[in-house]
Amino acid sequence: MTSPPLIEIYDIRSEKDVAIFSSKLPSDIISGLSESQGQRTLPSECLYDEIGLKIYNEVVSTWKEYYPYKAEMGIWKQWADDIAHSMSRVQAGGRAVIIEFGAGSLDKTSLFLSALAGTCTSRENTPPITYYALDLSRSELDRTLSDLQNNIGQDVSGKIALKGLWGTYDDAIRILTTNEGNFDKEIPIHILFLGGTIGNFTKGTHDSAFLRSIPLNSERGDTLLLGLDQAKDPEMIERAYNFESARPWIMNGLLAAGKALGKPGLFKDGHWERYAKFNKEMGRFEAGYVSKFDQTLDVPTFGPVLFSSGEVIVVSCSNKYTEPETERLFDDGHLAVVKSWLNEEYKYLLCLLKTKHT
Ligand SMILES: C[S@@+](CC[C@H](N)C(=O)[O-])C[C@H]1O[C@@H](n2cnc3c(N)ncnc32)[C@H](O)[C@@H]1O
Repeated sequence: MTSPPLIEIYDIRSEKDVAIFSSKLPSDIISGLSESQGQRTLPSECLYDEIGLKIYNEVVSTWKEYYPYKAEMGIWKQWADDIAHSMSRVQAGGRAVIIEFGAGSLDKTSLFLSALAGTCTSRENTPPITYYALDLSRSELDRTLSDLQNNIGQDVSGKIALKGLWGTYDDAIRILTTNEGNFDKEIPIHILFLGGTIGNFTKGTHDSAFLRSIPLNSERGDTLLLGLDQAKDPEMIERAYNFESARPWIMNGLLAAGKALGKPGLFKDGHWERYAKFNKEMGRFEAGYVSKFDQTLDVPTFGPVLFSSGEVIVVSCSNKYTEPETERLFDDGHLAVVKSWLNEEYKYLLCLLKTKHT
């Protein structure tokens, strides 16, 4: 028996000698903590260090109330074939490059890739499609891609090559923009951005700016497949995010922030409580930490920062989009909808988008 081929993971980080995943992270942490009282934040990357991402990937499918996972899984189960057929590969003789931004556990991806393999009529020595999972942790990419290979390797063999990209969204955008990745200029590129992760960017500004920065060539047939969580009953949202078993994942973010600043004990055990609340005004769920009493953090290279009892640090937001907000997101992102699939029960949308000609 021959063993399955080793999966190549390319290191695309702009600075390869840094121990942490993004060289911007320490300065982002310091700038978030040095905001005025009540406005303080930590970057959401703190939730996805090696430990955090492993916890998230292992438990996300088991969180019963966590509808974004169930909603998207439902869409894939029902429409994976339609989605796969909607991604144009015609001009390039059936060839395509797929890059999944913030790929995570790859559970849902396996349904898509199996459907995509079904659109290939034969098996080739050089598979016509290459799939790249992009994420922050090399060890998690190794693990999740090996699981993917074990699950669907035979189905996709000769049709889709499975690969990894180790780096950030910015790194991926850089290699696409400069073509450091040496992608064949004729072959369409399809970006997957799933799980409602666009909701982690600031609504109305950073979300659309991020979408605009993804270099898509609609003449070549490039597309972006985007998972978008729509506005819904706040109770459903709070139930989905505010459950006990997510606590270790969220609380690890404090340790990750301390480690990124070279001071793992910066946030002392027992001094912070988990924060989880739907912010009605901003239409977003907020996760973070509440200071249990007045305390001072000695932030490396910055100095002392005073936190009052009850003060909140937000580490992650999850925007829920109304219809006008969705239209504005696409307009400002210079994107047009090719086709969309809605999970009505959970009000969750998967949209295939292309660059709008202005
Ligand atoms: C909410 S999870 C979604 C995972 C997966 N896409 C899904 O739908 O289940 C966000 C993912 O994005 C990754 N991520 C967060 N910030 C990132 C960044 N700046 N660059 C690349 N990946 C990032 C995390 O490691 C994590 O895998």
